[in-house]
Amino acid sequence: MEVPVVIDAVDVFVGLGSVTLLRPTSLRVEDGEAVAVVGPSGSGKTTLLRCLMGMTTPTSGRVRIDGTTVSSLSVADRARFRREHLGVVFQDPELLDELTAAENVALPLLFSGRARRDALAHSDVYLDRVGTSHLRGLRPATYSRGEAQRVAIARALAIQGRTLVADEPTASLDRDNAVAIARLLIDHGRRENTATVIATHDIELAGMCDRVLDLRHADAAVA
Ligand SMILES: Nc1ncnc2c1ncn2[C@@H]1O[C@H](COP(=O)(O)OP(=O)(O)O)[C@@H](O)[C@H]1O
Ligand SMILES: [Mg+2]
Repeated sequence: MEVPVVIDAVDVFVGLGSVTLLRPTSLRVEDGEAVAVVGPSGSGKTTLLRCLMGMTTPTSGRVRIDGTTVSSLSVADRARFRREHLGVVFQDPELLDELTAAENVALPLLFSGRARRDALAHSDVYLDRVGTSHLRGLRPATYSRGEAQRVAIARALAIQGRTLVADEPTASLDRDNAVAIARLLIDHGRRENTATVIATHDIELAGMCDRVLDLRHADAAVA
């Protein structure tokens, strides 16, 4: 039977010597749910998301994604797990300038062993879904900020993982684009039964999610 809890982080704490980057935090996210992670700058949003992505190893606690305990995988296995199971979106789209939109979206699929033609066909589907089909043969230099972020989201969605993690994905966008991008992420998650976690400063965006985890409070937990 499928496990409805996709993201299961328990008492995740990150410290560096005497410095606390993230106070003990628990978070469970089910299929199709979107959770906003909020809190002032420095409260540990990025640190928590990095733990979910397997990019930071918690000092204590554990992170399980889709049944796999990411926090105890080797570095190489975590990188593979991320590439194959986890859509990630950052504030900066981090597209490769020399590649077209279609190639940028296809790249993680090629790394995962898909044939080029298949990966490019798949990338077309997701570029269309985020409303950027017209960019498929164009390089990032010609995109607006909103378009670039849409292409980055297409790249994350094309992985078709059960988990999508976005760290302030709308922070450098104007209001209309920010709301549209948030809608895209949340609606996609509901439709495809993806567990979605979005770190944000944006109250309106947080309000669009199903639940909010506020890191301002010590020992934050959302069950
Ligand atoms: N590599 C690091 N070394 C030391 N301190 C760090 C490092 N990364 C983040 N921090 C500190 O950890 C805390 C949490 O940071 P972060 O997770 O980036 O918060 P947020 O994303 O909510 O702004 C902050 O006080 C920050 O200065
Ligand atoms: Mg941050």
